[in-house]
This record gives sequence, structure tokens and C-alpha cells, in this order.
Amino acid sequence: MEGIGPLEKLIHKRRSIRKYQDRPVERETILRCIEAARLGPSAENVQPWRFIILDEPQLRLRVAKKAFSGIYLTTRWAAKAPVLIVILAKLDIIANKIGAHLQNCQFYLLDIGAAVQQMALQAQELGLGTCWLGWFNGKKVRRELKIPDMYRVVAMMSMGHIERQPRHEKPRRSMEEIAWFNECR
Ligand SMILES: Cc1cc2nc3c(=O)[nH]c(=O)nc-3n(C[C@H](O)[C@H](O)[C@H](O)COP(=O)(O)O)c2cc1C
Repeated sequence: MEGIGPLEKLIHKRRSIRKYQDRPVERETILRCIEAARLGPSAENVQPWRFIILDEPQLRLRVAKKAFSGIYLTTRWAAKAPVLIVILAKLDIIANKIGAHLQNCQFYLLDIGAAVQQMALQAQELGLGTCWLGWFNGKKVRRELKIPDMYRVVAMMSMGHIERQPRHEKPRRSMEEIAWFNECR
């Protein structure tokens, strides 16, 4: 095997970041991250992703207060991230119907997973930290931002300059447990 490459290094180093410096992220930098998502793969090239970038502190805090309240309080640390990105899906009727009914698969979720992870890795290359957020009140976010019904609120992502890198590795399943050549174990 050849030496470790830059992408491999990034992937090894990437961690979910939950503590950010109290300084803004330049819009140009944010957009470079979104660009990485924009170039992601998607079923039928539907590109269902849409992003609402919250970088205006008052609005961000207002949305965060709604998003991370009640049973979602465990995510309230994300209110301190200088950037919150609301990730929406605009469902393509045909691609989604085929996926859901014939293939039993919500393709738009795969598309968004792939694109958003590209965004996270790009952010890391630019010196930023991110964390996927799945535990938040989507209904309240929809109401607060007046998001029309044609969009699904899929996830959120926090982003900012890293204040603290987690000290401990999160455990991963062994290669033997997850990958098999030529058979299903
Ligand atoms: C779809 C998805 C949703 C997640 N939601 C949350 C969340 O709501 N809050 C949180 O703190 N971390 C969340 N995470 C981050 C995971 O906890 C984290 O990726 C996992 O523990 C592995 O740690 P690592 O990313 O540092 O390697 C989410 C990750 C994914 C992929």
C-alpha cells in the first residue's frame, strides 16, 4: 500500500465537533463547503438538497432555541456554533416514487447523506469543524423559517472554527464485522 494520502488523512482525523470558537466563519468559506455538497452524487442526478445557512447571530439563536428545546435539549450545545445549516430535501416525485415503491429505498436520504458528508470533509480541509444534527425539532424549525411543505427538513449541521477536538476516539466496528469478500456472513 502506498503512503497515506491527504483525503485519507482527513478521514482519519475527522471527528464530530461540538465546541466552537466564538468567531464568525466567512461566507466565502461556507460556500466552498456547500460547493462540495453541490457536486455530490444523487440518484437520477435529482440533486434534492437545499441548504438554509444561518449565520446571522440573532436569527440563528432564535431558531436554535426552538430547535433544541424540550426533548431535544441535549443538542443545545449547537446553539453556540457560529453557523447552523438546515438541510432540506426537495423531493423529485418520479425518482422518489421509484425509490420508495419499487426499490423500497428513500433515495433522497442517500443523496443527502453523500453530499453533506462531502461538505463536512471540505469544511475540515478548510480548518473548520462540523457536526451532523439529527436530534432537533424539525416542526419548529419549519415554522420559524417559514419553510414551505414542498421541502422536507432532513437534518441540520453545525459548523465553526474548532475550539476543542474530542480527546477520545469513538469506537468503530472491526473490518471483519462489516466487510466480507464474496459472501454474506
Ligand atoms: C445522521 C446523523 C445524525 C447525528 N445527529 C447528532 C445529534 O443530533 N447530536 C450529536 O451530538 N451528534 C450527532 N451525530 C454525530 C454522531 O454522534 C457521531 O458521528 C458519532 O458518534 C461518531 O463520532 P465521530 O463523528 O466523532 O467520529 C449525528 C451523526 C449523523 C451521521
